[in-house]
Amino acid sequence: MNRIVRIAVLVSGGGTNLQALIDAEKSGIISSGKIVCVISSKPGAYALTRAENAGIDAYTVSKKECKDQAEFEDKIERIIRKNGAELIILAGFMSILSENFTKKHEKRIINVHPALIPSFCGAGFYGLHVHEAALAYGVKVSGATVHFVNEVPDGGQIIMQKAVRVHEGDTPEKLQKRIMKQAEWKILPASAELVCKKILTGEV
Ligand code: GAR
Repeated sequence: MNRIVRIAVLVSGGGTNLQALIDAEKSGIISSGKIVCVISSKPGAYALTRAENAGIDAYTVSKKECKDQAEFEDKIERIIRKNGAELIILAGFMSILSENFTKKHEKRIINVHPALIPSFCGAGFYGLHVHEAALAYGVKVSGATVHFVNEVPDGGQIIMQKAVRVHEGDTPEKLQKRIMKQAEWKILPASAELVCKKILTGEV
């Protein structure tokens, strides 16, 4: 039987990107990897329900209940190991991982960011704030980026990007939705498959 890359998805919220990954696995867009566990940093996140509905093991590691970053990351690490996950996908994961963690998983963590890096990225740029900043600046085009995660927030090597038009009268919510639909939900599964394939061939 063909080898398959075991994937852990880290989430913090609604989990629409997780859903895109689950759907892509079902439809065969992702065929070189398999989501084996979902870990949420927020108790009760809807992403956990999406995981359970898809029959995927779901865990919560509440950052608030950990005494420090090291304990938070240690708990995540244990779940990843227990599930034998080789690739970690950050899909709306709202915590920054330390260098200690990212160094242990070089070229094995990918993240989706809701803007065209290097615009509107780095510490403080997450979720709706990204789209607020893009609209305040007055850009006519934004989009999404999938990149490898290293010790620099949103600073790792870019894997895929897709541009999306900003419309007259956009609100942060409208722009967020358009970017999710036209870019994130497409390039995240496509990047996951690409990276899984490269892991299997030893290219990364
Ligand atoms: C997505 O837009 C994702 O790109 C963004 O948060 C949203 C999560 O939505 N992530 C970041 O801003 C990380 N820096 P989801 O929970 O529905 O996938």
